[in-house]
Amino acid sequence: MKKITAIYPGSFDPPTKGHLDLIARGSKIFAHLIVAILRNPEKAPLFSLSERRRMLETLTESFNNVRVDTFDGLTVQYAADVKANAVLRGIRAISDYEYELQMALMNRKLQPDLETVFMMPAEQFSYISSKLVREVAQLGGSVKDLVPELVEQRLREKLDPAIKLEDAREPQSRRRG
Ligand code: PNS
Repeated sequence: MKKITAIYPGSFDPPTKGHLDLIARGSKIFAHLIVAILRNPEKAPLFSLSERRRMLETLTESFNNVRVDTFDGLTVQYAADVKANAVLRGIRAISDYEYELQMALMNRKLQPDLETVFMMPAEQFSYISSKLVREVAQLGGSVKDLVPELVEQRLREKLDPAIKLEDAREPQSRRRG
């Protein structure tokens, strides 16, 4: 069988357990999987591009056929640049289908040789989106089951910078105690 390189494009602001589930599934069926974070100057993200990249690099370091990259412009152009044959996207519920179908068909119109492959995350992640994670975290709710521990920690630091300061001071205060 042909060795397929796939890209998994997205905003990943922040990466969720659903994204990680899809990366794990994709890494099993593709020879190489590139998690490609869109550099979108129009959106003001919660996490900078380099913060998202660092989080995803750490979260995917156990997969030896997965790498993380950033891109701007058209997804089809980026796929051509990295010689990918497929685009991986997740479909959680029927509500995702219309938008995903539209994108897949537009990408096919632009680049007929590039296939979009849809995979479904595990059902316990089917209601998770980065947008809702940001909202819940910003309003003080728990995102424990929604994002990996590392992301939970970064969200806490981002939304309450005092926590980062506290962590940094901890060894000193322990010495004092
Ligand atoms: O995680 P998201 O925000 O749902 O990802 C959307 C993404 C990045 C896949 C989509 O916005 C995209 O492909 N943007 C790049 C620009 C492009 O190629 N537009 C035409 C595709 S229809």
